[in-house]
Amino acid sequence: MGPSGGTNAPECVCLTEVKARRAGGGGTIRVVCQPLRVCFAAVSQHRDIPMNASIRIDLRECGELPAHTYAFYQLRTLREGQIAELIAPDEPSLTLDAVSLNLRHRIHWEVIEQGPPLWRVQVQPRADTEATSLMDLLQRDHERVDRLFGSILARVNAGDLAGVAPDMEALSLALRRHIRTENELLAPAFVAPRDPFGSDPTSTMFREHEEILQQLTYLESAFAEGPPAASEIAPFFALLSGQLAKHEGREELNLFPLWARALRAAGPEAEATLVARVRASLAGDADDLAVARTLSPTDG
Ligand SMILES: [Fe+2]
Ligand SMILES: [Fe+2]
Repeated sequence: MGPSGGTNAPECVCLTEVKARRAGGGGTIRVVCQPLRVCFAAVSQHRDIPMNASIRIDLRECGELPAHTYAFYQLRTLREGQIAELIAPDEPSLTLDAVSLNLRHRIHWEVIEQGPPLWRVQVQPRADTEATSLMDLLQRDHERVDRLFGSILARVNAGDLAGVAPDMEALSLALRRHIRTENELLAPAFVAPRDPFGSDPTSTMFREHEEILQQLTYLESAFAEGPPAASEIAPFFALLSGQLAKHEGREELNLFPLWARALRAAGPEAEATLVARVRASLAGDADDLAVARTLSPTDG
């Protein structure tokens, strides 16, 4: 893997397309440098490379393909309930991090036997494993809320407002629990830097929670006396959906890394304790506080 040909190549390039063409026996071999994400997409569409459904993956058999591309191609078909064993002749962290990134973190991997000469790695769908870190737990909850939103938007767009009601109830509960957990449990647990202009990650989080709750309250009230008209409510769902996506992105990029750093300093026991409390809170152990009243931010 490496840049070639003097193009404005991105820092992460791959020659897989060339090798895939060669494996397919077709025409001219030329060097193509492209972003790794594009490379994965190109190979995944290359139908001449046989689909291997085996859940034993040996990176020594990757042939001319780069190890990460070979592993991606095998692991992209991993389904819930399956476990893959991967054999690697080199330390596999970088390879599996790249694969995980390109599978949008749908896999969880763990080295079960350290090399050299060989590393054995167990790979599972992330959905089959329990979150062990605070960041993973919060990101999974973001994804859960996003899935509910996706289901609601699909129904709203189809004009099925009666079908939206149960998802709306679930979304409302999930979002209020999530915000309560971040406002009242996590923010006070971490001393993060604040600035007088309110542009620090913690102040931004509180402010955006307020805005999200206002939008959510409006939507809840719109459903209070039966399903509203789709044309009337659709723009408000679209607004909240966009607001939420930006909010989650900002938390994951700006705030959660601060919390993760503080947790690393506190040690694994502290994180395990906090993860257990957050899991219980997201599951609703404090619903009497969280759902019965409008949440207001606290100055951690
Ligand atoms: Fe949040
Ligand atoms: Fe969040």
